[in-house]
Amino acid sequence: MVIGSMSTDFVVTSEIIPAEGETVIGESFKTFFGGKGANQAIASCRAGVETFMLGAVGDDVFGQKIIQNLNDQGVNTEMMQVIENMESGSAHIQIKDGDNRIIVVPSSNYELSSERIKPYLDAMEKMDMLVLQNEIPYETIQFVIKKGAEMNVPVLLNPAPALTLTQTEIEKVDYLTPNDKEFAIMFPEQDLETVLAKYPNKLIVTLGDEGAIYHDGAKIVQIPARKVSSEKVVDTTGAGDTFNGYFAAAIVEGHSMIEAIQFANHAASLSIQAHGAQQGIPKRKDLE
Ligand code: RIB
Ligand code: NA
Repeated sequence: MVIGSMSTDFVVTSEIIPAEGETVIGESFKTFFGGKGANQAIASCRAGVETFMLGAVGDDVFGQKIIQNLNDQGVNTEMMQVIENMESGSAHIQIKDGDNRIIVVPSSNYELSSERIKPYLDAMEKMDMLVLQNEIPYETIQFVIKKGAEMNVPVLLNPAPALTLTQTEIEKVDYLTPNDKEFAIMFPEQDLETVLAKYPNKLIVTLGDEGAIYHDGAKIVQIPARKVSSEKVVDTTGAGDTFNGYFAAAIVEGHSMIEAIQFANHAASLSIQAHGAQQGIPKRKDLE
């Protein structure tokens, strides 16, 4: 079960990113479904695992489309919350030369309070994993981490955007998956290998085209990414989400840490070869 954010991504490609006070002409505008929670739910689903999404949309036209899209992709949306008089989450993405800058406006996603998910504790207890990102209230993240530990349901937290966790929270989550930039914010001025050794088989740091790195209890293990030639890279938005959704699915299926990371790396490398956060997420058979 993914407990997280959903959004509409408004994507503009432009050869020039405007400076303050400047207006430039861009090349293209498209809307895509996105939001880290929804992207990860779809990745988990395409990896072949039954997936539930618990999140909040607004009562606008975007909210209806977001739920419809998740349904069409095979994600269970029975627990979805619709917030009255509220906008649905949105992300405003500028792409230049394949790289992105994103402003996320949480709107309804910040209405997903712990009060709203309390009615679903029984459902949560039956899950094989709870997957979180940081585009919903911190209070809710803390609640799910606590409940997950109490109920013995593994919790994966993808701390994106970066947040500072307490020691107890880090202890309680089962998987923590920052990218290298988020790692630097969460563990300022700390040496990567030292921190990895402190949290073996839990902390996995993703390194973009360098793959992912963790500590297996005995040693540091770096699993390289699949090479993608630069002309094939069209949109890296959602690569991290693909990694997380695939990783969670593979762990739930009983794969080892190393296998799960290999699956996740492979899926992420395919995801960047299509536009939009979700379009490029491969199906399990595409990996085979
Ligand atoms: O991780 C990619 C996602 O981040 C996009 O889909 C966008 O919605 C932002 O939240
Ligand atoms: Na993509």
